[in-house]
Amino acid sequence: MLVGTQFGDEGKGKLVDYLSDKYDIVVRYQGGANAGHTICFDGKTVVLHLIPSGIFNKDCICVIGNGVVIDPNALLDEIKKVEELGYDVKGRLFISHNAHLIMPYHKRLDSLSESCLTGDNKIGTTGRGIGPSYEDKFARKGIRVVDLLNREVLKEKLRENLAAKNKLISKVYEQEEIDVEAIIREYEEFDKAIDPYVTNTQLYLNRQIKAGKTILLEGAQGCLLDVDHGTYPFVTSSNPTSGGACTGSGVAPNHVGKIIGVCKAYTTRVGNGDFPTELDDEIGEALGRIGCEFGATTGRKRRCGWIDLVALRYSLTVSGVTELALTKLDVLDTFEEIKVCTAYMLDGKEILDFPTEHQTLSRVQPVYKSLKGWMASNANARSFSELHPNTQAYITYLEEALEVPVTFISVGPGRDETVFK
Ligand code: GDP
Ligand code: IMO
Ligand code: MG
Repeated sequence: MLVGTQFGDEGKGKLVDYLSDKYDIVVRYQGGANAGHTICFDGKTVVLHLIPSGIFNKDCICVIGNGVVIDPNALLDEIKKVEELGYDVKGRLFISHNAHLIMPYHKRLDSLSESCLTGDNKIGTTGRGIGPSYEDKFARKGIRVVDLLNREVLKEKLRENLAAKNKLISKVYEQEEIDVEAIIREYEEFDKAIDPYVTNTQLYLNRQIKAGKTILLEGAQGCLLDVDHGTYPFVTSSNPTSGGACTGSGVAPNHVGKIIGVCKAYTTRVGNGDFPTELDDEIGEALGRIGCEFGATTGRKRRCGWIDLVALRYSLTVSGVTELALTKLDVLDTFEEIKVCTAYMLDGKEILDFPTEHQTLSRVQPVYKSLKGWMASNANARSFSELHPNTQAYITYLEEALEVPVTFISVGPGRDETVFK
């Protein structure tokens, strides 16, 4: 399993693509097209939102699990994009019949609900309809992929749902209602297009496990955006942490082996919410510029700051991370001094435990330890011993402080720019 350990965008896509030739199957287990997983290979840069990041490895089967919320348009666009790059999708991509669909009214309600929040209360969602779709799922009103198979069920569910949503849209938000017939036509077309991919993925995955196949479960977002464990309410509406991988795929916890946590060598966050190590200065600006920190889905500028060990100790514990993949080390190549947040100050006292409630987290001040930069490029390093001694010292320090081995080190966005320790 591979999970994000920070606020998302840690480089999960790169790592999953890199690792996918060692696995038979890659499964996305939660989130939707709010995710943007970037893969750079053969001189190309591709961003995937829904299709698992193993798709550019021709021997790898990709599964969109039951925990994902699927936007039909985003999925069809993505299938087309992958096929245009010369990769077969038919026979290699399976979509859970139990996955929920994102409907046009979910996207509308996502932006309407955001527009009613003021100032710092805005979540800063990606506007992809994620929250409203999961709301319907848990209210037991959601429309699932399997519902497309029976046109009468689909029409009935849609009419019932839209009657309520349209009241909300017209009476509360005072906006124009949505036409149900247009949605029915659109989703009937979608059904025809995705029919070859739909299957009972839970059954499929467990049969493959019995047959000895290996599976990599690919998380979207990161621990600190988890609806249960993250910086609520500034979170997404699913469980990116390792527990979510089991519910979102139907693979039971006793089948889970390694839990690889992906972590940037610094921290970024896109959207609103607490960020104790955020740097509102030229260092933060430099991290963003050198790291090209713009959202892969929305293009928004990512907020930047130093690595935060208080937050990481927490997320590694919550996800039970057994090893760490450290990414974007090259972004630190030109910094003379590298800071690491080791504790927080709260009301004059030093604390080591990560507070997840906004009222407390918004008041903490980071305590930093300063480490020597390496002022050199590690671009050609492919083994730990080839890294600059100060880079090695930085990694060893993190391993000791976080009590977890760093097994992958990424020194550039490309598939091969990876150091295996
Ligand atoms: P994900 O959502 O976790 O898959 O991450 P994103 O794709 O949203 O953001 C990570 C960004 O960093 C992408 O633009 C990647 O191409 C890029 N990236 C990944 N690893 C590295 C690295 O080691 N060095 C540099 N410079 N860029 C990287
Ligand atoms: P990947 O998989 C970074 C953030 C949004 C917002 C909050 C809620 O690429 O790491 P949502 O649209 O999910 O309701 O927005 O979560 N967010 C992400 N930030 N990477 C992501 O995915 C994200 N997906 C959602 O910016 O703050
Ligand atoms: Mg991303």
